[in-house]
Amino acid sequence: MPQYEIMCGIVGYTGESKAQKVLIEGLSRLEYRGYDSAGVAIQETDGIHVICRKGKVAELAHTLGHFSLTGTCGIGHTRWATHGKPSEVNAHPHTSCDGDIAIVHNGIIENYAELRDELAIRGHVFTSETDSEVVAHLIEDNYHGDLVEAVRLSAMRLIGSYGIAAVCEQEPGIIVATRKDSPIVVGYAAGAEGGAGAASAEAASSASARNGAGAGAGAKAQKGVRGSFVASDIIAMLDSTRDVVVLADGQIAKLAPDGVEYFDMQGKSCEVTHTHIDWDLDLAEKGGYPDFMLKEIHEQPRVIRDTLAGRMVGGALVIDELDLSPEELDLTDRVYVIACGTSYHAGLIAKNLIEAWARIPCEVEVASEFRYRNPIITPTTVVVAVSQSGETADTLAAIRDARVKGAKVFGITNVLGSPVARESDGVIYTKANKEIAVASTKSFIGQVVSLTLLAMLFAQAKGKLTTPQVRLLFRELADTADQVERILSDTDAIRDAALACKDAESALFIGRGIGSAISYEGALKLKEISYLHAEAYAAGEMKHGPIALIDEGFPVIAIATKSPTYDKVVSNLQESRARGAKIIAIATEGDEDIKNYADYVIYIPKVRDAFSAITATVPLQLLARFVAIERGCDVDQPRNLAKSVTVE
Ligand code: F6R
Repeated sequence: MPQYEIMCGIVGYTGESKAQKVLIEGLSRLEYRGYDSAGVAIQETDGIHVICRKGKVAELAHTLGHFSLTGTCGIGHTRWATHGKPSEVNAHPHTSCDGDIAIVHNGIIENYAELRDELAIRGHVFTSETDSEVVAHLIEDNYHGDLVEAVRLSAMRLIGSYGIAAVCEQEPGIIVATRKDSPIVVGYAAGAEGGAGAASAEAASSASARNGAGAGAGAKAQKGVRGSFVASDIIAMLDSTRDVVVLADGQIAKLAPDGVEYFDMQGKSCEVTHTHIDWDLDLAEKGGYPDFMLKEIHEQPRVIRDTLAGRMVGGALVIDELDLSPEELDLTDRVYVIACGTSYHAGLIAKNLIEAWARIPCEVEVASEFRYRNPIITPTTVVVAVSQSGETADTLAAIRDARVKGAKVFGITNVLGSPVARESDGVIYTKANKEIAVASTKSFIGQVVSLTLLAMLFAQAKGKLTTPQVRLLFRELADTADQVERILSDTDAIRDAALACKDAESALFIGRGIGSAISYEGALKLKEISYLHAEAYAAGEMKHGPIALIDEGFPVIAIATKSPTYDKVVSNLQESRARGAKIIAIATEGDEDIKNYADYVIYIPKVRDAFSAITATVPLQLLARFVAIERGCDVDQPRNLAKSVTVE
């Protein structure tokens, strides 16, 4: 089974101070991201010492207190596991066979199994369950006296996403880092006492001259220690330097105590761009975003990519963790999705896909209802429990009930080892990473993508989708990451629409099919963070009651993307507009006609209707956030709400 790592935390330091202290401070700065184990590798005169602990950075610091490590070069890591249990063995840094090379890695090595088999034949012995360990062995295999070259050759073999920092016993004081689709930031600090390069250097692009001299790029004397830093997040080095280089994909940084050199994937010196960070610490924790919600909304393309990584193996869709044979999948004749809140809305989307593709009847039920009725469950019933936190009381109770009644239960959760994961027969972990804002955004997208894969898996097993169809769907699903990025790159139309409804007392969200499920999520987001009353309806229900609400200026937000029911939604818009509604339409790029029926149009890229939940939800999240901010609300911590609901 693949043992993936996801966005964890990397720090590295080489300089004049004790690395142990600098690394612990850096790791502590990354704690807010969530993690379950931490470790450091420090170069001492007698070799590299690796110390890892399950649990908090404070425990690691306490353990380090028992050693008297004095090394001034090292790397550290906080790991938040999704596969491969949190343990000292799985914690980073990972080392090569002889312990001469230690690495920390963020991301997912998709071809790790193939590489591990290849390296095992050459005598490498692996000790952890992780994909990351293969990186240490690969670098060892490629090492012939030059760490930069070994990292370069290794990176060229890696498929997937990675931010890597490596140290080697034979090259004291040197850290080599590289990246692809996973952030790596490098900085040089002249230290409080200043330094030759510190005062004179200007922030500017520079060739690979050492940072302390040329690329010292504005490394003005600042409180903190002197030396070179690498991290997955600027925040880890902010106390010492604010002048950083955000590595581009395929760039390699060679850190030494007196500066940094940069290389490209051909091994040649390369130009890098220096950036001066003027955020305060609070802003830095939020990655430069004003609030966690916005940061998490912007993480969604990454969540889509990580959730899909490694799922297509040899042209077939694979979800090993479910532990269900194709025969068992084929025998499934009823699916229940049980969940609460936003997770329930992800279930509504899954229903559409499971029924359309796999032709299995699927019911979606709020867990607090499911647990108190007597649903029809047979041994061929599959219950899918969706929970970001993995500890929602009603969802857990429903899982227990379903299992007692004989159903197979699968969890879809964001938290490794959570009760939902422990109490289910199989589990898919969404790759959202810790979600801090109370209102769920990136977790929802992770759930929708995971459930989409599950629907494809059922359809594949039942022979309802051919292998080429599954591959095509998978490719299109993967494309949604870029499409979401495009939506996030221009949000002016969403802001305009938000200004138009910020003073309303109530709003109505409508859509049909998947659009109605999206409407429910849009309404929930708006009400929970802006306290503006919002309701969602399947658009066809308008005439059966909700239309009575409409009067002059009443906001109606419609999912009017191109779908088989597009014309019907347009009719609903016309009848709402005729009664004075202010229409905000989420529409497909290129649909000029929609402007005739809407006051505000928010365009999103064209996607297959099945994937519209991923793209159309993003503007609704942003709309809710803009409205909430206009109304002076705390978007990260709305009143009366908690991130996990562990009581009934
Ligand atoms: C809304 C939200 C909640 C949760 C619900 C279930 O933004 O976050 O509605 O979705 O409380 O929580 P989980 O998914 O943790 O079971």
